[in-house]
Amino acid sequence: MAARMNTLSLLNPSHVSLRPRDSRFSPRPLRFYSSPNPNRRALFCTCSTTNGESFVLTTPLYYVNAPPHMGSAYTTIAADAIARFQRLLGKKVIFITGTDEHGEKIAAAAMAQGSIPLDHCNLISQAYKTLWKDLDISYDKFIRTTDSKHEAIVKEFYSRVLAKGDIYQADYEGLYCVNCEEYKDEKELLENNCCPVHLKPCDSRKEENYFFALSKYQKSLEEALNKNPNFVQPSFRLNEVQSWVKGGLRDFSISRASVDWGIPIPNDRSQTIYVWFDALLGYISALSDEQEQPDLLNAVSSGWPAALHLIGKDILRFHAVYWPAMLMSAGLSLPKMVFGHGFLTKDGMKMGKSLGNTLEPNELVHRFGTDAVRYFFLREVEFGSDGDYSEERFINIVNAHLANTIGNLLNRTLGLLKKNCQSTLVVDSTTAAEGNEFKDNVEKLVDKARMHYENLSLSSACEAVLEIGNVGNFYMDERAPWSLFKQGGTASEAAAKDLVIILETARIIAIALLPVTPSLSWRIYEQLGYSRDQFDAATWGDTKWGGLKGGQVMAQPKPVFARIENQTEAVDKGVAVGKTMKSKGKKMKQAQQVAGA
Ligand code: MSP
Repeated sequence: MAARMNTLSLLNPSHVSLRPRDSRFSPRPLRFYSSPNPNRRALFCTCSTTNGESFVLTTPLYYVNAPPHMGSAYTTIAADAIARFQRLLGKKVIFITGTDEHGEKIAAAAMAQGSIPLDHCNLISQAYKTLWKDLDISYDKFIRTTDSKHEAIVKEFYSRVLAKGDIYQADYEGLYCVNCEEYKDEKELLENNCCPVHLKPCDSRKEENYFFALSKYQKSLEEALNKNPNFVQPSFRLNEVQSWVKGGLRDFSISRASVDWGIPIPNDRSQTIYVWFDALLGYISALSDEQEQPDLLNAVSSGWPAALHLIGKDILRFHAVYWPAMLMSAGLSLPKMVFGHGFLTKDGMKMGKSLGNTLEPNELVHRFGTDAVRYFFLREVEFGSDGDYSEERFINIVNAHLANTIGNLLNRTLGLLKKNCQSTLVVDSTTAAEGNEFKDNVEKLVDKARMHYENLSLSSACEAVLEIGNVGNFYMDERAPWSLFKQGGTASEAAAKDLVIILETARIIAIALLPVTPSLSWRIYEQLGYSRDQFDAATWGDTKWGGLKGGQVMAQPKPVFARIENQTEAVDKGVAVGKTMKSKGKKMKQAQQVAGA
């Protein structure tokens, strides 16, 4: 996996001897081997204008050197929450994920397993798909860089860039980290030329490669970043990208002579395309329709440019510098936004297979369930910052929020409704809340949640929804409908209305939290007497007050979220929503001490 960057120096690796064979030191365009695409102009125009309301969202394509871990699952869970939210808004979402299967690192991993590369890739790629199923990931496209349509598109893209005069041959010498699949600047390495992320020595390499003339795009990139300051998010990461660009962009090698496991260079079978130049194209090849000829024009007309690339901060340079320049060279539109989130860490170190300090998502899902895993990481780690995992905190948070604040509120209300109203709502929720400012509070919190989802502040979105649960509990405790029922008469009628109000609140929570906890949201809806089809047809508009109707019959009350047994019950009692938030600033500050944050 790509490493944290030593910003300026990496783009100006002083130890690397870059000696173009052309004695004038200028990029030497190679002979054009495939016919230039006459649609270059059309290609550019099409993708920037026909996107309409579609929302193309991508995760990185994951390396298949080893099965997924919680760090890889994190990006995908976040992407899924965003995709589900955008679908609730009525957007035509194309959620792309997939696997990055070429290159030295993958070939070595296959060999270590005694497998041929493709068998190994099939196995690990399938492990990703299985995990995504277990985590309720609703992707639309899963691209594998070994797919033939991908290969066709990479070759076409390469030929466009070549035709533009942006590819040339030169010798390269440098220190290579196979785990990062990247040449490193000596200055950023630890003792014995060890990579600071993988703590393994880098190899000294010298070969003749094909280069991409990144330096030609220095000015255009600067302009693009100035023109669209939202391109890189969170905004503090933009400074990092700007300083890389300002430091001067150097051309980079886009082929490997020593690596067989890759897409051959169209005009030179002795070299394969560098794994990053190959994999980034997956964001476009994924769009290509199976039924159609796999070409760039077809692919980009199906939704390019992407609205959002969601990535970890370690691969920001590839996405915010290399990729836009590659796209400019090929005459394609740039993605609208690149969001670099932080790392899940263990003891302050980035969790990863190479360091062997991972957390197994399968195990977490098996022990605690999908909703708990999704909720914890999105609620607890501020999106964009690093966050450390602790099992105790995991259990405390999901018990306090999902089991108590939400689950218990619904369950006790349904219990009272069963006992006093034959599980049937006495009036519409609109009538029940007439003149009651409680409804306005809920609506304000829903708006807040929406705003946070839109801004990709996923933790704050969860917090706003939880707050709806808190005000619901407060209302319930204050009104105490159980004692009003005992009084009979108008008190009892008021109590029956209060139950409608609380159940409507639970319904709204279900929709507002659906991006994060889709299964829990469905279980809430089911308890409220809705069918699966009704739930599947829900939109963000259903967060408006007034969904529940008089006469609607609720299901038999049963807990929607089973409390996780915890040996450290005493600690649990200390976890209230407010406390969680307050402690977060401090916790995140500690986590930020992670190198490269
Ligand atoms: N194959 C490249 C991406 C190519 S995209 C065209 C790659 N793969 S990776 O498997 O190493 O990493 C994929 C993503 O997982 C990256 O965004 C990375 O930041 C993320 N994570 C891997 N470990 C992580 C944590 N411990 N925490 C959070 N995310 C991390 O890079």
